[in-house]
Amino acid sequence: MTQETAPRAAGDLASRAVGIRVSGVDKIYPTRRGEVHALSGIDLDVGRGEFVSLVGRSGCGKTTLLRILSGLLAPSAGTVEAGGRPAWVAGRRDDAVFAEFGLVFQEANLFPWFTVAENVGLPLKLRGAGRAARRARALELCATVGLSGFEDSYPRELSGGMRQRAAIARALACDPSVLLMDEPFGALDALTRDRMNLELQQIHAVSGATVVFVTHSIPEAVFLADRVVLLTPRPGRIRSIVPVGLPRPRSAGVESQPEFGEIVAELRRELDRED
Ligand SMILES: Nc1ncnc2c1ncn2[C@@H]1O[C@H](COP(=O)(O)OP(=O)(O)OP(=O)(O)O)[C@@H](O)[C@H]1O
Ligand SMILES: [Mg+2]
Repeated sequence: MTQETAPRAAGDLASRAVGIRVSGVDKIYPTRRGEVHALSGIDLDVGRGEFVSLVGRSGCGKTTLLRILSGLLAPSAGTVEAGGRPAWVAGRRDDAVFAEFGLVFQEANLFPWFTVAENVGLPLKLRGAGRAARRARALELCATVGLSGFEDSYPRELSGGMRQRAAIARALACDPSVLLMDEPFGALDALTRDRMNLELQQIHAVSGATVVFVTHSIPEAVFLADRVVLLTPRPGRIRSIVPVGLPRPRSAGVESQPEFGEIVAELRRELDRED
């Protein structure tokens, strides 16, 4: 998707969002029992403000790709660019590129001895923001993710869904240009997950951030995405990229529309072809 066709340039951050270009990325993990070829020849452009879902069987390399995009893991070959700037140069990462990225994983990973607001404001503290500014921004973000009233609670006092919301708020604290999410709702019950999907859609619309979202759930992938990327294992390659043209904002009812069902069925067929 090109910059011109990127969806919803509605938010304040839309102008800051950047596109990502992955070219010829390979990842080989050396292990005691030999090499594991986790990714091979990955080429992917994610448009500015675009929402891309990554799906595929367990072990196909979704987390590996997301970790490379997050700056946590160097690719064995190939390049990653964010906003036209190389993210890795000769195996070394450019920290300035990754400073603008927000990360959310399956586990919320909140600090138990900090309150919700303190956890959410932590990235700002690391960037030198003062106490009052951090508090103000944390309260704003708690409202964005539906945690108003729980700012001064501790993580142990929250449900799993609320902890994930806090993790998302923390990821948004520094106005990320790119949001990278690895099965953020994988541990939640179905009802909470549906609600979180609606909220994430809203957060994406307001923030304007570019999102790469990993999930095992094909309906979840389709509901959220502008395009769904299907990876195939051993080694992980892109098997297909399916555009989702359903208008936004999408309500829960979109899942009963024929077009939604057709896209889900197409992705399931692609997955079954691997067997
Ligand atoms: N640190 C590591 N060392 C060696 N091999 C690894 C490492 N991390 C992942 N792998 C291997 O790389 C391949 C891809 O793993 P990855 O975690 O990226 O898959 P995934 O698609 O995220 O799977 P899941 O859906 O189960 O989370 C697998 O074969 C895995 O065993
Ligand atoms: Mg994974």
